[in-house]
Amino acid sequence: MKYRIAPSILSADFARLGEEVRNVIAAGADMIHFDVMDNHYVPNLTFGPMICAALRPHTSAPIDVHLMIEPVDDMIGAFIKAGADIITFHPEASRHVDRSLSLIKDAGKQAGLVLNPATSIAVLENVLDKLDMVLLMSVNPGFGGQKFIPHTLEKLRQTRALLDAYEQQSGRRIRIEVDGGIKVDNIAAAAAAGADTFVAGSAIFDADDYAGVIAAMRAELAKV
Ligand code: DX5
Ligand code: ZN
Repeated sequence: MKYRIAPSILSADFARLGEEVRNVIAAGADMIHFDVMDNHYVPNLTFGPMICAALRPHTSAPIDVHLMIEPVDDMIGAFIKAGADIITFHPEASRHVDRSLSLIKDAGKQAGLVLNPATSIAVLENVLDKLDMVLLMSVNPGFGGQKFIPHTLEKLRQTRALLDAYEQQSGRRIRIEVDGGIKVDNIAAAAAAGADTFVAGSAIFDADDYAGVIAAMRAELAKV
């Protein structure tokens, strides 16, 4: 299983976003995590599909769109047009979770559900066939730079067990992404608990040497 590092451009310099995307991919990142906030589902406001479309020509790496918006369905279509490769949303923000997942899958894109720290993994059980990824929030959504919530490790183990059982009967592996407070010093613990895709915003973009942080993260992952 190859680990993937997904820098969140929420912590990048918004005045130089195209350059930031190019630089962080050149520094060794696997994909770009794109945090969409609406000041409704979460108490913050970021960027929408037009910014995603503007960034699309700056990289061939996958763009991983994390929707923190309510409702989600119209924006799913807009982000598919804008060039998103992976689209995840919070089940609380969709009236019809199965339908929203189908909008993503029917367009040939990868789909995922995002679980807040207090959201039960039971919400996954009836839609496993439509999931490519599960994103576990290790902070409450809305802001970069928050502290990792330790209970996430136990939830990662429970989620990995559920998805492993599904893989046994379906032959299909569903990835687990973890988002919030991921640093060089806790990435290995998250990996050991079951995560394979790691969002990191402030840990990378607040540093001067993006390649150095990403290399240090990979060195930690190599020990797992
Ligand atoms: C929070 C976002 C995260 C955030 C991560 O709502 O979903 O992607 O940017 O930032 P750090 O790594 O700084 O916690
Ligand atoms: Zn995110």
